[in-house]
Parts: sequence; C-alpha cells; structure tokens
Amino acid sequence: MTEKLAIFGGKPIRSKDFPKNAVIDQKEIDSILDVFKNKEFSRYAGGPSFDVEKLLRMKSLDAVKYKALYWNFLGGNKVKKFEADFSKYFGVDYSICINSATSGLSVALASADVSVGDEVITTCLSFTANATSILMFNSIPVFVDVDPRTFCIDPKEIEKAITPRTRAIVVVHLLGNAADMDEIMKIAKKHNLIVIEDCAQSPGVKYKGKYVGTIGDFGVFSFQETKNMMTGEGGMIVTNNPAFARKCRLIRNHGETVLNDDSPLDDLVNCIGYNLRMTELTAALGIEQLKKLKKLNQARNTNAQYLRKNISKFPGLSFTFIPDDVEYVSHVFPILYDEKKTGVPRDVFVKALKMEGIPVSTGYLRLLYEHPLFQKRIAYGKVGCPFTCPFYKGKIDYTKLKCNVAEDLIYRKFIWIYHVYNPATINDMKDIINSIEKIYSNLDELKKIKREEIKIDYAR
Ligand SMILES: Cc1ncc(COP(=O)(O)O)c(C=O)c1O
Repeated sequence: MTEKLAIFGGKPIRSKDFPKNAVIDQKEIDSILDVFKNKEFSRYAGGPSFDVEKLLRMKSLDAVKYKALYWNFLGGNKVKKFEADFSKYFGVDYSICINSATSGLSVALASADVSVGDEVITTCLSFTANATSILMFNSIPVFVDVDPRTFCIDPKEIEKAITPRTRAIVVVHLLGNAADMDEIMKIAKKHNLIVIEDCAQSPGVKYKGKYVGTIGDFGVFSFQETKNMMTGEGGMIVTNNPAFARKCRLIRNHGETVLNDDSPLDDLVNCIGYNLRMTELTAALGIEQLKKLKKLNQARNTNAQYLRKNISKFPGLSFTFIPDDVEYVSHVFPILYDEKKTGVPRDVFVKALKMEGIPVSTGYLRLLYEHPLFQKRIAYGKVGCPFTCPFYKGKIDYTKLKCNVAEDLIYRKFIWIYHVYNPATINDMKDIINSIEKIYSNLDELKKIKREEIKIDYAR
C-alpha cells in the first residue's frame, strides 16, 4: 500500500518552509555598519575643475585609490571598492555598479549607441528584462529560439535573424549554463555586432576557461535577492572598452558630468541619463557577497549534483546538457519532463509536487514575444512606438513568430526547482527526492487527473 499523495488529501512529505536564499553573516553586518559610521550613503557629484576625461576612463582598479571630492562622480568609497574587487575577480578593466541588471542591459546598449532604428537579437526564453531593456533606448528586440540542450540562444538562429539593421546580440547564459560563445563571437565579428552577455543567472560560470561576461563587449550581472550573490537589488556592468565604460558612467549619473564646465559632452549620442546609481549600503553588501561567491556557488552545485544523481533513476526525468568546455554553476535547477514516459501531464505532476510541499514551477510562463507588450505592440503610449517609428526601417510582427524549441520547453517539459541555493542542504534535497519517489509510486492514481481539472498556482 503506497502512501496517499497530498494532492488526494494525504500528508505532505514536507511541511516546513525551505530556507531563504540570503546568506549573510557578521561580515555583511559590519560592512553595513561601516556605512553608517562614515555617514556616506551615496556619492555622485564632483569638484569644479579636473581632468574629466581621465576620470571617466579610469580603470576600476585605479579609481578605487582616489578618495578626493571630484572622484565622487564614480561613486562613494564602497561603490568604488566593490567595482575594483569585481574587476579583480573577473579580470576586467571596468566594473560599473548599477541599481539592477535590467538597467545594466539598457545602459550597455545605450553606451554602444544602439538605439532608434536598430535591431537587437536576443533569446525568446528568458526573464522579461531581456526584452524591456532593449526597448528602453528604442531598439527593436528580435527574438530567436534556443538550443534544446543548453536552453541558451542558438547561434544558427542568430545568423538567420540578421538584417542590415542588426546592431547587437544580447546573450543570456540561462540557469547557470553558458551559450556557445565561440560561434556567437564569430557571427558578431563577421557582421560587426556588439555582444552583451547577460550573466544574471551565471556569475562564476566559465566557458573554455573564461568567465562568462568577459567574452563579449559587455557582461551584465544581477544581485537581486534570488541570485547566486545578492545585495537585495543591484547589478554590475563589466567591459574592457574605455569608451563604453565612460558612457556607462555618464548614463548612470543623469548623462551629465557636472564636474567641469569644459566637459566634452558633444559625443553623447542618444545619451539620456538616469539616476541608476548603487547606494553605499548596497555596495557594502556586495563587497562581502563577492568574497563568498565561490562558496555560494559550490553549495548550489553540491545540491544540484545530488539531485542529478538521484533524479536520473526516474524514467521521464532528465536534465540540462552541460557542454564539456563549460564550468557550470547551478542557479535554478531545471528538470526536463517527458509525459510520454509517465503518462501524467506535466502540470499535474507539478501540482502534485507542490502539494507535497516542494516549491517548483514550470519555468517562465510565456515566451518573451508572447507578452501583450509585443503581441499588441504597446511599448510607448498608444501609437506603436518604437515598432512603428519612422526611423525604424524594418517590419516586425511578433504574432507570426514561432520558436518551437523554447515553446516545447516551457509548455511541456520544464520543471524548475528553486531551492538548490545555500543554505539549503542535502536534507532539503532528500525531501525533494522523496516527494518525487512518492509521486512515482502513485503514478496510476495520478493519471486519473486531467490537466483541465487542476488549477496551477503560480506562486512558488
Ligand atoms: C536572465 C536575467 N536577466 C536580467 C534579470 C534582471 O535582473 P534585475 O532584477 O537585477 O534587474 C534577471 C532577473 O531575474 C534575469 O534572470
């Protein structure tokens, strides 16, 4: 006699919550207290006369040494230290703290003058920010399908989507895997395109021995609370290009230098700036979290490896393919589900797992181009801008777009497990495995539930 599934009123395997993602200790608290002691919460204005260009192009490792007033344009002391530490860790010349990865993606594009009339190719399978950040400076997102094994953008699809208007590619290293950067860089070189790597879900992942984020023209990281290292909210742009770094710094600060009346502002094409600065409190957290990144990643990987080993025995469940030349870091743990092998619709399986107390989901609810923003072309106001802007010479109709691989993943295959993160332990993972085991022992019962009979609750 098998134990009754929670979906049929049985006792769930797990009744207590999984631990929270934020791993902080006295080091973060001390770093924050430092900010209070110094009474510096956010710095940005500079002094009256100074070599502005020298300041704007100074490498992060050098800029941290300067504490005088005019250097405040680059941020407070914690911000500058976080940037210098990040540059050292990832081996890049410039790190630019920003208030989120979403802002970071927009700023990176704008700093390379990707704007009105330009198309930006990106994946259809990602978080909304990948689409909206392209629209911020009025470029047109062109969505393409993913590689069915890594879930990252498929270089063959990029090549097919290139037009005379294409200016950039936003690559997302999704769920701790890495996109095929060699192929992508080859295409970018051939067509003279800017490459932005979105590393929100992959800080510390390596592709052929190089950190993702350091291969293209820009890398963008997120420190939102659910990420592998976190500061609540926050992000980082990295680049080795001084001209791009200069402009990122300007856009972060309202687009103006406010330093020197002779500042050379003439070349600030499309430079609408915002206030996108990171506060000193956020940077204080970031400095300590960065020191822990390796450990935090290792903890995720340990849990993920345990899941891989133990889930592989269930017919109908498989995993992401990790190419040999990728050093993977687990972010969210994705399972690929095969209804043909279990006889139970994926959504019914997910509901049963949730009822056992395991917070899982089916991944992104829609592909990016399926959002009303694109289907109805309602980005700015009601007139169809920027899709119908006279400076945009292409014609884009998202209602006709079809990305079969990504569609199959989100509507039929994905099951995402979120709680692989530190401080969750193998004991927590055991509850996940036990719940799956229990469901497999009751598959015949579960087959009686039809997809239409269950209401998916999207909260995790
Ligand atoms: C792939 C990807 N890009 C960008 C973002 C946006 O990051 P942020 O919340 O820091 O703006 C996220 C956040 O979940 C993400 O997963």
